[in-house]
Amino acid sequence: MKQLYIETLGCAMNTRDTEHIIAELSTKDNYELCTDASQADLIMINTCSVREKPVNKLFSEIGVFNKIKKDGAKIGICGCIASHLGAEIFKRAPSVSFVLGARNVSKVVKAVNTEKFVDVDIDYDESTYAFSEFRGSAHKAFVNISIGCDKKCTYCIVPHTRGDEISIPVDLIINEARKAAQNGAKEIFLLGQNVNNYGRRFSSKPKQKVDFSDLLNMISDIEEVERIRFTSPHPLHMDDKFLHTFANNPKVCKSMHMPLQSGSTHILEEMKRGYTKEWFLNRALKLRELVPDVSISTDIIVAFPGESDEDFEHSMDVMEKVKFEQIFAFKYSARPLTKAAEFTNQVDKEVGSARLKRLQDRQNEILDEISASRRDVVYEVYFEELRNNGMVAGRSDNNALVQVEGDEELLGSIQKVKITNPKRLSLYGEILK
Ligand code: 5AD
Ligand code: SF4
Repeated sequence: MKQLYIETLGCAMNTRDTEHIIAELSTKDNYELCTDASQADLIMINTCSVREKPVNKLFSEIGVFNKIKKDGAKIGICGCIASHLGAEIFKRAPSVSFVLGARNVSKVVKAVNTEKFVDVDIDYDESTYAFSEFRGSAHKAFVNISIGCDKKCTYCIVPHTRGDEISIPVDLIINEARKAAQNGAKEIFLLGQNVNNYGRRFSSKPKQKVDFSDLLNMISDIEEVERIRFTSPHPLHMDDKFLHTFANNPKVCKSMHMPLQSGSTHILEEMKRGYTKEWFLNRALKLRELVPDVSISTDIIVAFPGESDEDFEHSMDVMEKVKFEQIFAFKYSARPLTKAAEFTNQVDKEVGSARLKRLQDRQNEILDEISASRRDVVYEVYFEELRNNGMVAGRSDNNALVQVEGDEELLGSIQKVKITNPKRLSLYGEILK
């Protein structure tokens, strides 16, 4: 067997693409996974280009792999930077053997076996492609429900790296979810760039009309499935049907990612997000009303071009009103091919750093209040991972990270846990017998 080392950066879509790559290379070629790059016959980096930093890091990383790799070992670059830079990667890093775009994963066997292979076609349709099976976790199964993204958010490079949005046929999704659940994965994690836009376009006419709410209900009908999660939904498509399905289906976990991006309606317009501050607040507060123990996470970009102090205060205001359980906050990063990169009113780097710090400091205070309120609460926790010092970690239904003392016997089980020591980043507790 040849050895494959693969590093995965970026989002859950990339994590699933990596699983597809491993499956293809182990069933249609002769590779097995290894954890030591210096022993590998093939080193792959599955890249993310959503912000500028990782792009710069990629080339220094290739340099490191050049030094440690075995003689004759190949290096392949896939994912979103591959889509974006294409054959230019060969010029900047001649040791690279192939470049495979984020929408071209199914061609990995050909890529590995063809000298200087490059395919970054974003019109390529992988929506009906039946990949071979490999799963990194026995307990949780990622299942793609769509590829690409039809939104044209002005800051975002993703439509240029993953192409137009196409929904995957419902029977492929159900079969994959059923198979994974029957193999022991109690949790099905649905993936797409805009999951709650599911069903708007298929590559061929579907037999039945299915939207995202219908899909959630269909997956929950699979007996072995106990939990369903998904990412990312778009606030614009959070209609009442979706919120009610989310609230009322007991298998749908009560944690929602609601990427705000900005609290200022003016900046949201510049970003072409399609909703206002008021719409976002209306949806988030309705969600809190329908599902009192819901946890809401978000993404916020600070210092988007033209963001004034007043605009930024609107983001802080939404934070105060929604009290997010988790925030992923980013300083705006100008990306090639995007509209916003051409805007002339870019915000000073120092202003961006100061805003990011203010937002994060306030969020930490909010998180401390949220954690403290969780003392003595009892959660149903699905245990998935062994940690150091004899701890086992899992997630509550509403996505809090919970740790208890225990061993591998707990893995794959759902237990009632009483929280005895809540910390900002993790809740510690005891299993109730
Ligand atoms: N600059 C900073 N953050 C960005 N994101 C996407 N594009 C950019 C950019 N150009 C953030 C958004 C998105 C998350 C995955 O990354 O908040 O939701
Ligand atoms: Fe990164 Fe976006 Fe590509 Fe995911 S889709 S890997 S977040 S650029």
